[in-house]
Amino acid sequence: MPLLEIREYPDPVLRRKALSVETIDDSLQRLIDDMIDTMYAAPGIGLAAPQVGVLRRFIIVDVSAGETSSPLYVLINPEIVSREGEQVGEEGCLSLPELNSDVARAARVTVRALDRTGAPVAIEAEDLLARCLQHEIDHLDGVLFMDKISPLKRELYKRKVRKSLKVGGGA
Ligand code: NI
Repeated sequence: MPLLEIREYPDPVLRRKALSVETIDDSLQRLIDDMIDTMYAAPGIGLAAPQVGVLRRFIIVDVSAGETSSPLYVLINPEIVSREGEQVGEEGCLSLPELNSDVARAARVTVRALDRTGAPVAIEAEDLLARCLQHEIDHLDGVLFMDKISPLKRELYKRKVRKSLKVGGGA
């Protein structure tokens, strides 16, 4: 299956709000499969549809890389219905190459969504899975983790990206 192009900051598609998925059809299933392949190939632990230029509300998450045995989640129209506590940890993003920074998130979340068959699911998550779900669901609203880091670090990153676009002519 073809790998999809991962959009990178400052691509404006990353700042748009995605629309709800209304129909779970064959073309959505193909897109989900291609996104799964693209995420594993990157490699990454999560991917949201806007990151491949699709402004629809669905995400793919698999935080098992390494030691934990967490499943692959395909979540359609996901919503965070409860948040508890706080955790601070380092994040990266396939759309923000070479940026890693601490981000404060809720420690535990409950997410309601549909799975890829259209069945409703509820996930109670903590630690890395909770962090990743919050990060990916943010993408559906055009929010990037760079919005949640120190202003100085954000400015330095923007400057670096501008400079590399000027030198390389973009990619
Ligand atoms: Ni991301």
